Amino acid sequence: MAWLRANWFLALAHAGAWLPLGVLLWDVARGALSVNPIQDITFRTGKFALLMLMLSLACTPVNTLTGFRPVLPMRKWFGLYAFLYAALHFLVFSVLDFGLDWGLIQREIVEKRYILAGLAALLILIPLAITSTKGWQRRLGKTWKRLHRFVYLAGVLVILHYIWLVKADVREPALWGGALAILLVLRIPRVRMAVSAWRRRASAAKAGPALGSSTGEAK
Ligand code: HEM
Repeated sequence: MAWLRANWFLALAHAGAWLPLGVLLWDVARGALSVNPIQDITFRTGKFALLMLMLSLACTPVNTLTGFRPVLPMRKWFGLYAFLYAALHFLVFSVLDFGLDWGLIQREIVEKRYILAGLAALLILIPLAITSTKGWQRRLGKTWKRLHRFVYLAGVLVILHYIWLVKADVREPALWGGALAILLVLRIPRVRMAVSAWRRRASAAKAGPALGSSTGEAK
């Protein structure tokens, strides 16, 4: 119980990340998918992969904006969940949809640019997932940071994947793209420093009057 009180955010975040998979499996088990079940699973795993990737990218900006530190370890975990859902997404596409017919899959990759963009994103996520451990971080040193910056490229490729696959209404992928753009801007060192300075000023201003009044009371 004491562990849960100290780590409530981690517990909530992990439970939230597994929940979509649980609901999906539950829907599969009770036959509650749409009339096109394979497409349903493809859409859901794709959407969850995107959501997890964005949550992973949001961890550092959330810490910069709010000073909430427990969010930081989730950066790695959300990235791993993104990979898990993306791998499931690809498995559904290649096994259930294309029956592991590599000739057909290759043709899809060549003919459909959205598949190519998705594949490129997935290929980027693989080394990032493998090297996400502390051991790899130590072994790779400075290269680790450089390598893990490719997560932004993966994000851009996933947005392209999404924009290119929708035929008419691009509003939803555009919204995700806008969110990614904001997260990218918040990563720019100057912007990050300005946000940190603003947060420090805001908390000092908040603490100021309280301190003042308590000093007043003491007098
Ligand atoms: C080889 C890799 C990939 C393949 C072959 C692939 C394939 C697909 C296919 C076939 C669809 C459904 C298209 C349709 O029926 O109109 C789809 C949708 C989608 N995929 Fe992928 N994808 C790949 C990688 C990824 C990755 C890495 C992500 C995210 C991290 C992702 C996120 C999405 C999203 C968000 C959708 C749309 C879901 C929706 O409309 O609700 N995909 N993908």
